[in-house]
Amino acid sequence: MILLATPAMGRRRFLFGGLAAAGGLLLPSPLALAQGALVATPRQTPGPFYPVQFPPDVDHDLVVLRGSAARAEGTVTHVMGRVLGLDGRPIAGATVEIWQCDARGRYLHPGDAGPRPRDTAFQGYGRTTSGPDGAYRFRTIRPVPYPGRTPHIHFVVTAPGRRELVTQMYVAGEPRNEGDGLYRSLRPAERQAVTVRLEPANGIEGGALAGTFDIVLA
Ligand SMILES: [Fe+2]
Repeated sequence: MILLATPAMGRRRFLFGGLAAAGGLLLPSPLALAQGALVATPRQTPGPFYPVQFPPDVDHDLVVLRGSAARAEGTVTHVMGRVLGLDGRPIAGATVEIWQCDARGRYLHPGDAGPRPRDTAFQGYGRTTSGPDGAYRFRTIRPVPYPGRTPHIHFVVTAPGRRELVTQMYVAGEPRNEGDGLYRSLRPAERQAVTVRLEPANGIEGGALAGTFDIVLA
């Protein structure tokens, strides 16, 4: 078993509301194939844009807001995976939260004073709960770059009896990855653990992308 020591990151408190069910189709994951030799998902800073006020809809589908016909700008992307322990066993009942900027590069946060108006159809934040097999999934948009950062999705995962994990997911093949200070701060095995290949979501949603991000809690 490989256990990588990770630097202690600043912790902050997160508040939770209602939980949505998770589950569904999973794509093959190299991580899943390497059970017994899992790398703990590395910790990363939450950054300054975790919501100070949650959107009216906090479910796992960030592309549409409940009660609205509008659809978020950007490429619809299904991010799915399992929450696992270092031993490869699934962790059920974990709360998985994500937040990311919209297709225009704006976060749902008053501290983000970017020049372009926010895409109000994008939920900006979502949460779900891992199922009995540890599975979770989100329907969101492909992350986009904003000044100083390569595309990424912020994650926080909490599970009973385990230390909260704050991390970020990156997109494989993104040319900006190598120039991103937070990405570069990771060792090769850690980078691999948070870098996800996005491919056409065949059989899930036409025109959409899909990728598998398994999350390993130490
Ligand atoms: Fe960010």
